[in-house]
Amino acid sequence: MNQQNLSSQFVAKTLFGLEGILAEELKNLRATKIVVLHRAVGFSGDKKLMYEANLKLRTALRILKRVFSFSATNSQELYTKVQEVYWDRFFSAEDTIAVDSSVSSEHFPHSQFVSQRVKDAIVDQFREKTGKRPSVDLENPKFRINIYINKDSCTLSLDSSGASLHKRGYRLQMSEAPLSEVLAAGLILLSGWDGKSTLIDPMCGSGTILIEAALFASKIPPGIFRENFGFMNWKDFDPLVWEEILKTSRESISLFPGKIIGSDISANAIEAAKKNIINAEFDVNLKDGNYITLMKSAFDLLEKTEDAGLIIMNPPYGERIKQDDIISFYKMIGNTLKQKYEGYDAWVLSANLEALKFVGLHPSKKISLMNGQLECKFQKYGIYPGTKKTSTVSLIE
Ligand SMILES: C[S@@+](CC[C@H](N)C(=O)[O-])C[C@H]1O[C@@H](n2cnc3c(N)ncnc32)[C@H](O)[C@@H]1O
Repeated sequence: MNQQNLSSQFVAKTLFGLEGILAEELKNLRATKIVVLHRAVGFSGDKKLMYEANLKLRTALRILKRVFSFSATNSQELYTKVQEVYWDRFFSAEDTIAVDSSVSSEHFPHSQFVSQRVKDAIVDQFREKTGKRPSVDLENPKFRINIYINKDSCTLSLDSSGASLHKRGYRLQMSEAPLSEVLAAGLILLSGWDGKSTLIDPMCGSGTILIEAALFASKIPPGIFRENFGFMNWKDFDPLVWEEILKTSRESISLFPGKIIGSDISANAIEAAKKNIINAEFDVNLKDGNYITLMKSAFDLLEKTEDAGLIIMNPPYGERIKQDDIISFYKMIGNTLKQKYEGYDAWVLSANLEALKFVGLHPSKKISLMNGQLECKFQKYGIYPGTKKTSTVSLIE
């Protein structure tokens, strides 16, 4: 069989709540044997698919290629099994490595110890064979190895992504509490936005939702700005296959037909968003092109320019705001939506579940997500003629 087409097993890691969307993305890439896991999706495919997954998936953090699975219940067994792999098939003593671990096992209570033990087994194998050993570089290694342990079941993988895939390479400026690019892309896909109708983020901060929306609507693969992926260091890296994927991806890029509008109360946030948008090679406030409109405005004062569309927003959660103020802030969101955005669908992401109730509109969908360590709800509100405030708020008002 052609080496190129050999099928391998992979795991794409993601954030909690995005597994289903990631499985859909993998289906569209024609991956096979797709299995939804916890914060991950398993799949099968060939080398080309692995390259495409790294370049094109919007909601994946890493693509891990399975090398070897085994069972172990103690550190000596783990060490011996890791040494059953001929590691010089993948890299040499001159390379740098790092071992990441993800462990859920009573046999191995400390994941850092697992990483250490796997690293020892690998470097000792090189030292015994050649007298030299790969050195460890935790920040920027040439090869990342991943060990996943669930109870006594262990899987060693090679990380084909290298740096996490949320590092798209377009974000230069951060504003207050920026979203992960992977989460922002997840919000857009979960909202079901068609990429054509008007999309507004009225609390856009550094512009992550706007940029991920523009990438999606223009069919631009999110990895297009990156120069490096882990697989480029692999011995079997095929630059011709990679170049072909880049070429066909570039050919399918199109101007997005709709409008993407961002606004924020903070001038610094708008400045950061502008720099990031330009760095992602979109124009700001220009007519007749791939443009994103930016405005500095408080949400309740924002001038409404379109009759219908989709709003996605990630308001402050209130860590730095007094309780009374955060309640009136979320009431303002609900009132503004109801008074000015009839005909729109609005999605709000927040970790402040108490404050969310004060939006005062009935959510037609609620999705649980994690934003970093914070448990969040992503809620949809349809703003139709006669949309009612819910009783929670009228009782409190
Ligand atoms: C959690 S941050 C959004 C981060 C953004 N999603 C990103 O990825 O950078 C919330 C944003 O809401 C903005 N904001 C706060 N009050 C506002 C208001 N009344 N109107 C519009 N924007 C507001 C803040 O300036 C801040 O940029």
